[in-house]
Amino acid sequence: MKSKFLILCFAMSVFSHCNVLPFQKKESNDNMLLAAIGILATASDWVWDLPPGFPVPSVPSDNPMSRAKVELGRHLFNEKILSGDESMSCGSCHIQSLAFADGKDFPTGITNVAHPRNSQHLSNVAYMPRLTWSNPRMTSLEIQARAPMFGESPIELGLSSNVFLDKLRAKSIYQTLFRNAYGNAESAVNEQNVRFAIASFQRSLISGNSKYDQYAFRNNKSALNASEIRGMNLFNGEVAECFHCHGGFNFTDTSFHGGAKEEFFYHSNGIHDDAYYAGQSSNKRGLFDLTGIASDTGKFRAPSLRNIGVTYPYMHDGSFMCDNANNPNITIGKTKTDCARDALTKVVDHYRSGGQNHTAKDSTLIRAFTITNSQRDDMVNFLLALTDEEFLTNPRFASPF
Ligand code: HEC
Ligand code: HEC
Repeated sequence: MKSKFLILCFAMSVFSHCNVLPFQKKESNDNMLLAAIGILATASDWVWDLPPGFPVPSVPSDNPMSRAKVELGRHLFNEKILSGDESMSCGSCHIQSLAFADGKDFPTGITNVAHPRNSQHLSNVAYMPRLTWSNPRMTSLEIQARAPMFGESPIELGLSSNVFLDKLRAKSIYQTLFRNAYGNAESAVNEQNVRFAIASFQRSLISGNSKYDQYAFRNNKSALNASEIRGMNLFNGEVAECFHCHGGFNFTDTSFHGGAKEEFFYHSNGIHDDAYYAGQSSNKRGLFDLTGIASDTGKFRAPSLRNIGVTYPYMHDGSFMCDNANNPNITIGKTKTDCARDALTKVVDHYRSGGQNHTAKDSTLIRAFTITNSQRDDMVNFLLALTDEEFLTNPRFASPF
């Protein structure tokens, strides 16, 4: 038995400290050995298939990627058993065809109460060292998943007990999927392993095959037309300043840059003024709600602009939308692209005007600048060229149900 334990420790230490695995205390050594072999069998089979220009994502050492875990996570992400009344899943607010956003200004959870911010897209979320619009405590996907599952303010999936685990254990598909991912179906169906598998699935959501990527990284110089190229140059120039906050391969200044090197920033881009924020409730004022520091009022993480053509309405409160943005399936005579074009035109007009009078605004970068309407349209065309159609339809990311 002693030698078995030593082998087990060795096997586990490849991925984790030997004393932190969740099932270690509960299991007999034999079961632990089987579990460790299960992890070994699956953990080493993950191969990142990264687009050119993308660094390898940072993966927590206690949750290594594996194909079986990603597959389990894909099921759990879309599994309605993960909500209090079995009416919703993560996928209800994170829809693949919308780059895992949902087209709403404020989504509602199972009790029909509106969330104070809108659903973020999940393209390349693996590279975000801080998650959500403005909560610096959300440092990993493993931690973040607790909020939609168990959060009470707002209620999203509204789980209030571990009964959902019994429901998962009762479905034969999960017996197989958990065994494949964690080696021991019965004890592996626990709350942590659910979150860890969902996190692994979300890390696999890599998007890097837009027209822009084909032009910039795949040597296809006809992928962008003349207007889109003019827009790209404006976006990356010192007149419009966009790239300072939306730069790099993921079009945001909050990113893992390869290895463990991370940077994160919060800004006010001036969409509202001081009086507006003074009148807002305690969950609508951005970073200030977490820090209580006055100069953090109205500050948010600059979103990645990847797939921006399908993630309207824009900003944390959806304040830039097309008339029918709350129902992207009804386009009132407009295509989805026309709708995105409307909303993005409003966004660029906002930046060109310098935005509202807001003390916390980063006024060296957010200040009025002069471009013609035709140059503005070029910039909108460039933003629309960031849509990766392959990502929106890839069966590897689709709901299995
Ligand atoms: C009711 C709709 C809703 C449901 C259900 C939901 N989300 Fe979200 N999601 C949101 C909203 C709204 C935000 C922005 C949160 C904030 O700023 O506080 C968000 C943000 C996120 C983020 C942060 C993305 C980023 O770029 O930082 C991740 C990751 C995420 N959700 C994953 C999940 C997972 C996993 C589940 C299921 C366990 C889930 N969501 C269920 C609405 C939802
Ligand atoms: C000082 C940093 C900064 C600069 C410069 C900046 N942005 Fe932003 N941008 C942000 C922040 C922060 C948000 C989110 C604000 C919010 O939700 O309230 C944002 C949001 C956006 C959004 C909406 C994204 C979404 O998912 O809702 C678009 C589109 C956008 N910016 C485009 C641009 C363009 C185009 C430029 C240049 C004209 C630009 N930004 C310049 C910080 C910046």
